[in-house]
Amino acid sequence: MRLPIRLSFSAPSRAILLALGAAAVFGTAQAQTAAPPLKVGLMLPATGTFAALGDMIERGFRLHVQEQGGKLGGREIQYFRVDDESDPSKATDNVNKLIKRDNVDVIVGTVHSGVALAMARAAKDSNTMLIVPNAGADAITGAMCAPHIFRSSFSNWQPGYATGVVAAGKGYKRAMTITWNYAAGQETVKGFTEAFEKGGGKVIKDLNLPFPNVEFQALLTEIAAQKPDVVFAFFAGGGAVKFVKDYDAAGLRRNVPLLGSGFLTDGTLEAQGSAAQGLQTALHYADNLDTPRNNAFRKNFALTFKANADVYAVQGYDAAQLLGAGLVAVKGDFAKRDGMIAAMRKASIDSPRGRFTLSASHNPVQDIYLREAVGKNNEMKAVAVKALADPGRGCRM
Ligand code: BEZ
Repeated sequence: MRLPIRLSFSAPSRAILLALGAAAVFGTAQAQTAAPPLKVGLMLPATGTFAALGDMIERGFRLHVQEQGGKLGGREIQYFRVDDESDPSKATDNVNKLIKRDNVDVIVGTVHSGVALAMARAAKDSNTMLIVPNAGADAITGAMCAPHIFRSSFSNWQPGYATGVVAAGKGYKRAMTITWNYAAGQETVKGFTEAFEKGGGKVIKDLNLPFPNVEFQALLTEIAAQKPDVVFAFFAGGGAVKFVKDYDAAGLRRNVPLLGSGFLTDGTLEAQGSAAQGLQTALHYADNLDTPRNNAFRKNFALTFKANADVYAVQGYDAAQLLGAGLVAVKGDFAKRDGMIAAMRKASIDSPRGRFTLSASHNPVQDIYLREAVGKNNEMKAVAVKALADPGRGCRM
């Protein structure tokens, strides 16, 4: 991966710089110094169950910057990185490394909703610009919304709600849900329940376990005993791999259909193998969207990283596109932050997922696809809900 070139000055070159400075002071030269690099702080998981997700987000972000010649709006980008370990108890200290120690201009992060909530608090307190490239915590573009906080991904409510629409449309009446007991799990299940019950179904029981535990056996036994029409699951990363394999190994797939928000099978299909084949999920991206934009993105991603892109890579790529839209509007002058924010608010992002705009609370308004796991791809079956906008509950801006 190409890193920004840092210049280190030898003694003679320092002398040249001093001479140039003096010439400018005395009006004998019109030398203009280039703006310094824009400092972007990437706070993502590099360890733990979400490590692969953080890696894909960073790759996507850097790919877009690289495609723009290493610059956004004419500004070179300098990266600062912190591993947040998907640990909310360390989140405030971690984000302050970027804000107070590294003095970054913009923070990009993270994956885990609990960590992202602490980041949003710190971004508000310090008035630092924040772009969230995954974590769906509803409050970030709800009650905690702010002019300088943006999201390039989704709210937890969105894929949950869309999967509820799908489940009700399939005629299921009795559902059980299963997830980790933290903001992303709870809010995704809430979205599912809202749409499923509006469509005539009933959630008979919510099952959960602490994040990031993967001891599913007792809960699977309870599903087998209750025999619902359908199970809705939210898991992601390493936990999703284990859950899908355990669900299959317990023999449940033959008797109780499993639906998930798309994180259940995104970036995980190779590890899940045959246990995931045929699983249907709902998400704002599908691997095989046959558009010139998605095809070009996937090709360039594969060439650059020798790996297939997934939804996390798309969200990282679009975080860079969103930042770029702001910087282009002010010709790279970050001091014109109000102008940047205005441009980001009204940006139309040409994403591999399909073009999207932002809601008034800065969350993507986007199509949610029904997908099916076929081979190594989450293939698009239908648009589950068109242009789904998060309600942005509690946002006043
Ligand atoms: C979350 O914590 O918001 C989250 C984590 C992984 C995938 C999707 C959402």
